Amino acid sequence: TATAVIAVDGPSGSGKSSVSRGVARELGLRYLDTGAMYRAITWAVLRDGVPASDPAAVASAACSASLEWSTDPDESWIRVDGVDVSRAIREQSVTSAVSAVAAVPEVRALLVDLQRGAVRSALAVEQGIVVEGRDIGAVVLPDADLKVWLVADPGVRAARRAAEDAAAGRAHVTSSESIAADLARRDAADASRAASPTTQAEDAVVVDATHLGLAEVVAAVVGLARERM
Ligand code: C5P
Repeated sequence: TATAVIAVDGPSGSGKSSVSRGVARELGLRYLDTGAMYRAITWAVLRDGVPASDPAAVASAACSASLEWSTDPDESWIRVDGVDVSRAIREQSVTSAVSAVAAVPEVRALLVDLQRGAVRSALAVEQGIVVEGRDIGAVVLPDADLKVWLVADPGVRAARRAAEDAAAGRAHVTSSESIAADLARRDAADASRAASPTTQAEDAVVVDATHLGLAEVVAAVVGLARERM
C-alpha cells in the first residue's frame, strides 16, 4: 500500500480535507491539499492589490509567488514567499476571490505542474499520497490507483462548514444559510468555468457522506484503497 496514489475530488464542504487526511494517516501516505494551493495564490493576488477579475494581472502575480507546503497529514502548513498563510487562506476575502483566480488557465497550469511534482517526489521516496481537489482524478492524475468522488447533501455540507468555522474561531461566520449560499456560488463557478471545471472522473467511485460520520467515510475509502492494492 505504500506507493498508492489516491485522488479525492468533490464539491465544497463535502468533507474532502478531513477524509483525505484521515485516509493518509491510516495508510501511512502523504497528503496534498490542492485547494490550499489555489487559496495561497489567491492570498498573493490580494496582497499585491491585483483585482481577481483581471486574468492577465492574476497570472503574472501568480507566477511571481513562491509556494512551499507540507505533505505531512499531521502537520499541514503552506507558505507564500516565506510567509505562513495557513490561517489567512481560510478568511472570507480569500474564499470570495478563489474561484475567479482558479479559473485563470495560467494559474491552473502552474499549480498542476507543482501538484504532479509533489506526487513524483513522494513516489521517488516510495511514499504514496492522497491528493485532494476538484480536478485531480479527471485532469491532474488520470492514472491514480483510486479516484473518489465525495458528495454530501448541500444542507449537510453547510452545517459541517459552519461547525468547522466555529471550531476554528473564525468570526466572520454568520449563519449556515449564508454558508450554504456561498458553497452554492463557488460550486456553480467551479463547475461552469472553461478551464478544467470540477469534474467527476469516469472511473471515480462515488462515496456519499450525507449519512456517514467521518470515521465511516475514512473506513470506506481505506477499504476501496486496499481492494486496489
Ligand atoms: O477545497 P477548497 O474549498 O479549499 O478549494 C478552494 C477553491 O480552489 C475551490 O472553490 C476551487 O475554485 C479551487 N480549486 C480548484 N481545483 C482544485 C482545488 C481547488 O479549482 N483542484
